[in-house]
Amino acid sequence: MRPRELVSTARVVLCAVVALSGCKTVSPPADRLSQLIAKGRDLFFNETFAGNGRTCGTCHPAENNFTIDPAFIATLPKDNPLFVAEFNPDLKENFENPALMREFGLILENLDGFDDLKNKFVMRGVPHTLGLRTSVQSPGGPRTGWSGDGAPGDGSLRSFATGAVIQHFTKTLNRIPGVDFRLPTGEELDALEAFQLSLGRQQDLALPLRLKGTVPKRGQEIFLDNKLGKCNICHVNAGATANFPGRGSLGNANFNTGVEDLPDQPARLTGKRVPPDDGFRSPGDGTFNIPPLVEAADTGPFFHNNAIETIEGAVGFYDGEAFNNSPAGQALAKIDPKGKGIELDGTQIVAIAAFLRVINVLENIRQSIELLETSRAVSSTERAGLLARAARETDDSIRVLRGGGLHAEAVAHLREARRLEDKAVRSLFFGRRYAQEAIREQKKARAFLVE
Ligand code: HEC
Ligand code: HEC
Repeated sequence: MRPRELVSTARVVLCAVVALSGCKTVSPPADRLSQLIAKGRDLFFNETFAGNGRTCGTCHPAENNFTIDPAFIATLPKDNPLFVAEFNPDLKENFENPALMREFGLILENLDGFDDLKNKFVMRGVPHTLGLRTSVQSPGGPRTGWSGDGAPGDGSLRSFATGAVIQHFTKTLNRIPGVDFRLPTGEELDALEAFQLSLGRQQDLALPLRLKGTVPKRGQEIFLDNKLGKCNICHVNAGATANFPGRGSLGNANFNTGVEDLPDQPARLTGKRVPPDDGFRSPGDGTFNIPPLVEAADTGPFFHNNAIETIEGAVGFYDGEAFNNSPAGQALAKIDPKGKGIELDGTQIVAIAAFLRVINVLENIRQSIELLETSRAVSSTERAGLLARAARETDDSIRVLRGGGLHAEAVAHLREARRLEDKAVRSLFFGRRYAQEAIREQKKARAFLVE
């Protein structure tokens, strides 16, 4: 046994003895920022702003990577406030489209104003709110939401919360502040912003990573190759900023990549009315904002309209007509020596997707370890929640690797980690020790993915 483990074992034993009397870990006094974050967390998950019962967490739940999809929606009880349009007569019409919500995870938004609810709306997927610290800034100001103008006013993360309350929290379609909901106060907006900025990655990756898997490694090469995959032009380091040849660093920019021109979009196949989404500004210029890709593989469906279910399909989109005929595809063709936009074969599409799966799992492992480590430092009552979240991240890691037929040995260690995380939740005295063992299995899994 190494010395560090000895110390922790000693603490576990001590705790086990003292456990009968509570064995509380004394937390250090929280500084101002962590107090603000804690307040923001409480608001995000519990505050209804005197509205229809929804909270931010209704659509951005922590247990589902801060987003919702049809599989998650299907687990919710009928009286969940997500479904207000199904049980609140005042919100029955022109507030949501329950069928499209349940089948495709789409939410109704009136981005171009509330003056013609029947005709002026778009149907959009819910983006996760992870890694926001890396994905909002652009020289033209903050870009939030799928089109970068999801927030009223200055478009900042702070304003976004106000916009979300007016759009999603109202009790009636009159949307009168003080009657149908109350607006967040300045202090509440600060707290919500601090909490959201604390979620997920705090910095971008530095690619290339020294990946071990043959196919993901090739995928990374194609991703980074500005003459082949060209992905890194708009998703620098698999993040949300662009570095366009000849135009330099553009921050979290907007592009028209032709997603709206895809044929056979699932929501439209239903025959339900899904007006075209014109993107940035009102009237829109057809552009959408670059989302980060590290978090992509476990937060599908993909694109602003949830048009594509799988990560392979989302990569394959770039080989198609909709992209290559789009303004962004044409701009790439213009600077290509052979005049091509993006042209990828089946093996190359799968390789890029394998790369995106692996960087997603590396991020999940990072988060799992962080949660497990924090769980070891808190009281047993706080521990359960953290362990449950670590377990969900582990489930995602397993699902994402298995979905691409990748890294079977890493999956075996992740399964073991998952088993230990369960044991840690159930164990009265040895929770910390099982968490430590789970961390070890997470690290073993990681060692199969990257040097
Ligand atoms: C009914 C579901 C729903 C609720 C409730 C909701 N959101 Fe969202 N959220 C969405 C959708 C849909 C989008 C995409 C909006 C767009 O493209 O303009 C979004 C986008 C966001 C974004 C942009 C993320 C990015 O990457 O740019 C942030 C931030 C956000 N929401 C925060 C919040 C906050 C804070 C609250 C609570 C005050 C909240 N949301 C409540 C559905 C919801
Ligand atoms: C010209 C800029 C540009 C290039 C090049 C580009 N993307 Fe994108 N990407 C975007 C924009 C903008 C969006 C959002 C589009 C939308 O939702 O309408 C996006 C969305 C995505 C999404 C969906 C993410 C989500 O959370 O829904 C994936 C996956 C993706 N891109 C992967 C890639 C890959 C892989 C490549 C290279 C083959 C690539 N992108 C090249 C701009 C670009």
